[in-house]
Amino acid sequence: MAVGLWSTVVIGLLPLVGWLFWWWNDVWYGLVMATLRSSKGDTKLPPGNMGLPILGDTISFLWYFKFLRRPDDYINSKRHKYGDGIGMYKTHLFGKTSLAGVHGKAHLRLRSFVSRSINQPDALRQIALAMQPRMISALQSWTKCRKITFYDEMKKVSFENIGMYFASIKPGATLDRLKKYLAGVVSGFRAYPLNIPGFTFYHALQCRRKTQEFFREELDKRRKNNGENDQPIQDLMDGLMNIKDEDGNHLSDTEVLDNITGILLAGFESTVVVTTWALYYLAKYPNVLQKLREENLSLKSNKSELLVTSDEILKLEYTMKVVDETIRLANIAGFVVRVATKDFEYQGYTIPKGWNVIVWLRNVHTDPKNFDHPLCFDPDRWNGSMLPENFQAFGAGPRICVGNMLARLQIAMFLHHLSTGYKWQLVNPDAKVKYLPHSKLEDGLEITIEKL
Ligand code: HEM
Repeated sequence: MAVGLWSTVVIGLLPLVGWLFWWWNDVWYGLVMATLRSSKGDTKLPPGNMGLPILGDTISFLWYFKFLRRPDDYINSKRHKYGDGIGMYKTHLFGKTSLAGVHGKAHLRLRSFVSRSINQPDALRQIALAMQPRMISALQSWTKCRKITFYDEMKKVSFENIGMYFASIKPGATLDRLKKYLAGVVSGFRAYPLNIPGFTFYHALQCRRKTQEFFREELDKRRKNNGENDQPIQDLMDGLMNIKDEDGNHLSDTEVLDNITGILLAGFESTVVVTTWALYYLAKYPNVLQKLREENLSLKSNKSELLVTSDEILKLEYTMKVVDETIRLANIAGFVVRVATKDFEYQGYTIPKGWNVIVWLRNVHTDPKNFDHPLCFDPDRWNGSMLPENFQAFGAGPRICVGNMLARLQIAMFLHHLSTGYKWQLVNPDAKVKYLPHSKLEDGLEITIEKL
């Protein structure tokens, strides 16, 4: 009898438990926390569902990104459910995202230093000449292989270039070790923050720690050598060590380590992934390749030397359109995150202080309202002027990518040498795409390559 009563109670409570489970995050974060945090007390939150306890909306995110491989349908499913309305939905992703970084004046000072060192015309001129020899010799060596995995090979070239230019680390075992650590950090970019051995996030944190130790040793070595050598190393890391604020204060060691790691991370994979996509699209769109080749052959035929200058490359109109169109479609930074530093109102809804605002950049580039046939590779869509709000691949505002010109230059320089000297074929023209931590071809773009 007692057992029967208990069973009835338990079964009767099940819908309530299910309801609570389903709405837990909405009730807890959406109502309780948001109202407590909001200075005004009355909070009308945007539409949306915050998913299950702890996991939040992560399962749905993974469902669209990882299993269905239709990343745009994650946001589309919200549009269908809650309407286009204000184009903003409350959700709960990746647990509580934490953001490290400098702000305000310190950020501006660092930005302007980094920009001067890697992204302004003078720096780009030097970088262009320093980086091409490796690209040229890699292209020559690949023709001797039956096939190559382009992404892996290009990563070696790019990392040798930036390792040397940013931190004066020569190719070899030390650089390979650093590359392994950084790859580990990148793998954790979109991982659920479970700091438990065996999980990607834990591995990424371990790799980040090892990267910092790596640069800590380098920093100590440089300090010691600077005292002894007449000619200290002059590279980006050295610049970071010497940068001063208006009161003459240097960056702390932690800031130097954080920043050199951050810049290498930001520039480590991004251009390689986009260059890989460029080869893929050019192989699929031979008419585009032909126009690109003609423009670059015309530049080459007017020159006696093999290396091109950054000024020459950045003036190649069609090539730069190919680069920008590839960056738009590659969508390697699917979204950027900002934190609300105070409560604010947007179109009648409250964004409570402390909440992350995830700006869904992918959607800007794949929305038919912004582009005709948005998934079609069409460099000619860049004829005329592009509305800045329709191209956000490098982010926007005070945090806009500080390596945007360097990235475009590196990709264009490589395309110059590739298109004027080589032809290539995709081994797997129907290779699948994976979207986490960012969009990449699953086979790493296996190609055969030969001289023209
Ligand atoms: C096609 C390649 C690249 C893309 C698509 C890209 C995209 C982005 C995006 C979306 C952001 C965040 C902007 C925001 O929060 O609004 C960013 C920030 C940043 N990127 Fe890039 N990036 C690329 C290449 C590079 C390269 C080559 C470097 C340098 C080596 C670099 C260095 C940085 C740095 C340092 C930041 C942080 C800026 C700050 O917080 O002030 N990026 N990038």
